[in-house]
Amino acid sequence: MQLLFLVAVAYLTFIQAAIIKRDPSRQYYTLHFPQGHLDDTTHQAAKHIAQSLNTRYEGPVGELKTYFLVSQQQQQQYTKRASGNYDPVLTLFDQHKKQLSKRDSITSPWVKVNRIDKQVLKQRSKRAVLPPRAPILTSGKLVLEDAQATLGIKDPGFDKQWHLVNLEHTGNDINVTSTWKQGVTGKGIIVAILDDGLDYKSRDLKDNFYAEGSYDFNDHVDLPTPILWNDYHGTRCAGQIAAVKNDACGVGIAYDAKVSGIRILSGEITDVDEAAALNYKYQENDIFSCSWGPPDDGKTMEAPNGILADAFINGIENGRGGKGTVYVFATGNGGDAGDNCNFDGYTNSIYTITVGALDHTNHHPSYAERCSAQLVVTYSSGGGKSIYTTNHGHEECTDIHGGTSAAAPNAAGIFALVLSVRPDLTWRDMQHLCVQTALPVDLEDDDWKKLPSGRMYNHKYGYGKLDTWAIVEAAKVFKSVNKQTYLELPVKMNVTDIPDTTSDKHKKPLQSTIQVSEEMINAAGLSRLEHITATINIEHQRRGDVQIILRSPNNVESELAAVRSGDASADGIRNWKFMTVKHWEEDPIGNWTLLIYDEVNAESTGRMLNWTMTLFGELDPTFEGEPDHQPNVNHDTTNDVPTSIIKTTPKPTSSSQVDNTHAPVRPTRVKPTTTITPTSSESTIPTHLDEAEDTDSVSPGGSTLDNDDTLDYSVFIYAFVGTAAILGLATGMYFHKRKHWRSPSLPNQSSAISSQSYEFQEFKHDEDDEDDDFEEGEASDGRPLLSQQEQLDR
Ligand SMILES: *[C@@H]1O[C@H](CO)[C@@H](O)[C@H](O)[C@H]1NC(C)=O
Ligand SMILES: *[C@@H]1O[C@H](CO)[C@@H](O)[C@H](O)[C@H]1NC(C)=O
Ligand SMILES: *[C@@H]1O[C@H](CO)[C@@H](O)[C@H](O)[C@H]1NC(C)=O
Ligand SMILES: *[C@@H]1O[C@H](CO)[C@@H](O)[C@H](O)[C@H]1NC(C)=O
Ligand SMILES: *[C@@H]1O[C@H](CO)[C@@H](O)[C@H](O)[C@H]1NC(C)=O
Repeated sequence: MQLLFLVAVAYLTFIQAAIIKRDPSRQYYTLHFPQGHLDDTTHQAAKHIAQSLNTRYEGPVGELKTYFLVSQQQQQQYTKRASGNYDPVLTLFDQHKKQLSKRDSITSPWVKVNRIDKQVLKQRSKRAVLPPRAPILTSGKLVLEDAQATLGIKDPGFDKQWHLVNLEHTGNDINVTSTWKQGVTGKGIIVAILDDGLDYKSRDLKDNFYAEGSYDFNDHVDLPTPILWNDYHGTRCAGQIAAVKNDACGVGIAYDAKVSGIRILSGEITDVDEAAALNYKYQENDIFSCSWGPPDDGKTMEAPNGILADAFINGIENGRGGKGTVYVFATGNGGDAGDNCNFDGYTNSIYTITVGALDHTNHHPSYAERCSAQLVVTYSSGGGKSIYTTNHGHEECTDIHGGTSAAAPNAAGIFALVLSVRPDLTWRDMQHLCVQTALPVDLEDDDWKKLPSGRMYNHKYGYGKLDTWAIVEAAKVFKSVNKQTYLELPVKMNVTDIPDTTSDKHKKPLQSTIQVSEEMINAAGLSRLEHITATINIEHQRRGDVQIILRSPNNVESELAAVRSGDASADGIRNWKFMTVKHWEEDPIGNWTLLIYDEVNAESTGRMLNWTMTLFGELDPTFEGEPDHQPNVNHDTTNDVPTSIIKTTPKPTSSSQVDNTHAPVRPTRVKPTTTITPTSSESTIPTHLDEAEDTDSVSPGGSTLDNDDTLDYSVFIYAFVGTAAILGLATGMYFHKRKHWRSPSLPNQSSAISSQSYEFQEFKHDEDDEDDDFEEGEASDGRPLLSQQEQLDR
């Protein structure tokens, strides 16, 4: 009888839709079965566990075979022990797992489950920038006549779609019309828009809307109907991709493709919703266009972990019949907040194509984030113009769509054209095609670097802008790459202090070098390098001060972590995977060096724990046997660089160029206040030297920081400045670091030196004057004094 019941339940679970409708009165949890398959034994184990936890079994999560959802009524949750973090389900789970080790039973369903995660509601941020309302294009001259005549385009807004045909700046567009004229218009391809609502009743979209691929994860209903007043974003993105060629508004880039709407941004969702959304109907939805992510505030550092990471892997492994879902992500709009897309785990994932924005004058809009994970850019708002597209409403249009939010759908539209001529291409083929065909723009920008491959790369533009004609032509003859292999190189090192590098001369970053040998490359079967990740562990009092560069054997430098002045977090960098595409197809053999700089605030310090470099790339098609992914690693870590290397340190660039320098624009030195000017120099210098020694002696973990260096450096500063200002600075640092045991003989200046780690920023407005002094002093006597000191030391 019971067996019959179980079979019936199992059967029901199979026929039930993959999406479990979230009931707001229930609390949800996921159970992770690492070896799980959608077979009866795992189902029954999950059900058994659900019962033991006093929860209701809900079913598998989306397309994931290793996660099961259980739930409990919210009222049950809070009984007597309502205070604190007490959770009855998590507590029961822990109890059962603990008992398990005692019982040691192999047959128990508890052996199969390794984790439970409570689902919390969270809100994803849209990446729209609302630009000031731009003037509507008036040129409207009939340069478009050819396209209009040959393709029968009657859309009244076509001439306002400068990203398709730019009438004002010829060539500053996606170069799509000749591709259309070949009949390549996106037929057979479906692009899912993970966003807010999608107005599928719009006259400009209804014929290209794919209802079967659509779902609303906010309200758990089938269709992504826009309901909220600001539910217009998804509709605009959909219009960019597949607005119908008719007499309403403009046309989409792939105007014969279909769009699905997956509504996730119109409210809060759980990780379960998000994971299911990322794989939703992934045999039908080919491309997922995502214009959202963690907040772009210049201080957030958040990645899709656990179930979300597994959803991406499931997508690229099993989506689109195993060719892999093409995930397109916008870099983010935190550029003005000093954000960098390597601090966003969605954009710096190797599984997503990271697309930034380019304005109609072929320049980098200031809102667009830069990073070494950025692959390409395409057109969006900036320089006074935005994107013209379909809007929410029966026949509405808008010309104020923008942000990197609008760049991602433009790229997704271009990729739809690519897949329509070559549906067999894999997710990695698409990335290769981007690298091979992107066109560098704005060549005066000095972050462009000529790579050994002959290509150019820029952290603001990636490999350049997408050119539709070029990528579709290349796709037609593209030979699919072989499957992926990787080489994982962990560096287990002693905890090492990161030297302060706030002075713009004599930078001595912490350096950690890994030797990659030909044998390792051959053993891993790595024939063509693609992405590189560096998983880094650093403790730091102020995370935003850390800048990390990866230097290849061919002297190509990727900026993995940029200084983020707004990021005052003391959490450090924990197992964070930075990513770079800048070394694509570079020869990986030789020494790879990680350089860690500690910028901006001299008083906040940090230590390096370890790091792991992983090289991803194509498996040599002739390779036989099992690849060795984890060979023994030779590495060398030092924070004491020979003086000769200093000369090769790139010179600081002008203040408008933050991008390719190792230092921030201008090192921010601590600016003293008059209240802390000491009465005599003698009283201050020893104090500071004492402080330097003390820093060394208290730092645990076998610091290799050479004490002589610190002394050299200190004397260097004192020697050339000799002003009350800098002496005051030293006192300021002294006070800051020792605020817990401040010497009673010194004046109380806590109003000037607060306990905030970014306190000195408020004094920056006077910086100019002082910088001039600094440079003069340096030019005249900085170096000679340093060498004098070196002589003294010997
Ligand atoms: C744009 O497409 C045309 C084909 O119509 C091609 O000849 C041209 O090279 C493309 N433009 C660029 C900048 O690649
Ligand atoms: C590096 O350190 C972190 C934190 O201590 C640890 O979780 C991680 O396993 C370590 N990784 C390696 C490769 O040693
Ligand atoms: C770490 O420090 C210990 C003791 O100071 C030393 O014996 C060991 O060689 C160091 N290991 C590395 C990897 O530097
Ligand atoms: C790589 O580094 C090791 C030691 O760190 C050194 O012996 C070797 O010469 C370096 N190789 C190259 C090509 O620079
Ligand atoms: C320093 O002065 C502030 C007010 O200016 C006062 O709140 C604080 O207690 C003083 N600290 C000491 C150590 O005297």
